[in-house]
Amino acid sequence: MITLNIEKTFGFVPKEQIFAQAEKAKVCNQTLENATGKGNDFLGWMHLPSAITNDELADIQQTAKQLRQECEVVVVIGIGGSYLGAKAVIEALSSSFEPTKPAVVFAGHNIGEDYLHELSTFLKNRSFGLINISKSGTTTEPALAFRILKKQLEDAVGKAVAKKRIVAITDQSRGALRTLATREGYKTYVIPDNVGGRFSVLTPVGLLPIAVAGIDIKQLVAGAVSMENLTGSAVPFEKNIAEIYAATRNELYKSGKKIEILANFHPKLHYVSEWWKQLYGESEGKEHKGIFTASVDFTTDLHSMGQWIQEGERTIYETVISVASPDHTLTVPFDEQDLDGLNFLAGQRVDHVNKMAELGTQQAHVDGGVPNIRIELPELNAHYLGQLLYFFERACGISGYILGVNPFDQPGVEAYKKNMFKLLNKPGY
Ligand code: PA5
Repeated sequence: MITLNIEKTFGFVPKEQIFAQAEKAKVCNQTLENATGKGNDFLGWMHLPSAITNDELADIQQTAKQLRQECEVVVVIGIGGSYLGAKAVIEALSSSFEPTKPAVVFAGHNIGEDYLHELSTFLKNRSFGLINISKSGTTTEPALAFRILKKQLEDAVGKAVAKKRIVAITDQSRGALRTLATREGYKTYVIPDNVGGRFSVLTPVGLLPIAVAGIDIKQLVAGAVSMENLTGSAVPFEKNIAEIYAATRNELYKSGKKIEILANFHPKLHYVSEWWKQLYGESEGKEHKGIFTASVDFTTDLHSMGQWIQEGERTIYETVISVASPDHTLTVPFDEQDLDGLNFLAGQRVDHVNKMAELGTQQAHVDGGVPNIRIELPELNAHYLGQLLYFFERACGISGYILGVNPFDQPGVEAYKKNMFKLLNKPGY
């Protein structure tokens, strides 16, 4: 089980104050379960882990196997919720240096001409496939990347082979990508109507690219199922980590802590933080309310943002993700000369040094006025990652309801698009 520890927030917001919110958090969790709250047509994510069938998982694994056999590189095209979950899991569970086989790379999450040009060059003379993910099918960034890469693929291998290497993940019946996929005969998967992008990691949106990277999606889903059970409203508040996290962050927010910094002490978790930032930022930042979500990688960023966190404006709190046991063992070697003065660590594990850095940082930041929430994963594997993803999703729904917003819409993201389309002379703008 992943665990949650909020003790280091009690010096800022008394424990009684947080536990006084137990009933509210419980009611909000029940509101999710009973589908009686705002955005209740977007609650499909809640039971995705337990609802997905073995046949559906087997079908995803079969498509992944085919892409793995035929491609040296698979490009996952998508933006926001259509790519961050897959990117987070793949980075967390793959080597930092050895590319997966096939290499899984991402496109359509920016409008970088250099990025697309360099990707296109990289793909020349390599066998590649495309997983195009867009619920609406009209999002500019992925549509642009797909148009360019589809042409490159068709030019390289011909239309007939290309269509076997393209998978579309989109709406069941609507949208440009659905129309194109039907016309071209691509293999398709559905993003359910009632699942928003940022809650879609446990649909084919996340599961197919993750399976292509060779990661055990059954374990990921099994972990999420266990967390679905452990965060239901029947589980008492004291044991319900989703309700506790949601209540704690809202009490901290009310006390003036407007920024939550998600910190990790494991470099492979960088994109888990990126996924989390979208999940909470897009769910809660509305009606001129909401905690600003930020993230840092420690100890790396102790040498950049550490100063601000220690002594900057006291409007922040930290949520730290820690992994109890790394996969590998590496000890500090003894050195005869000891010019770097590190012999006091000889024979100790590198992870011990990391853990002491974490403890020292926690003490320093709490002393400096930064409340600390700590989440611990026993190990970094698919099962615990599945637990973590579902935990954050469930807590996000509860937290948004405590805040009083609709956590499942994102009206604000349209504003820039209207201006951009007008500037680009798109018909109708
Ligand atoms: O969470 C969301 O809804 C957004 O981040 C979307 O996933 C993102 O804008 C991409 O949209 P689409 O899948 O329609 O291309």
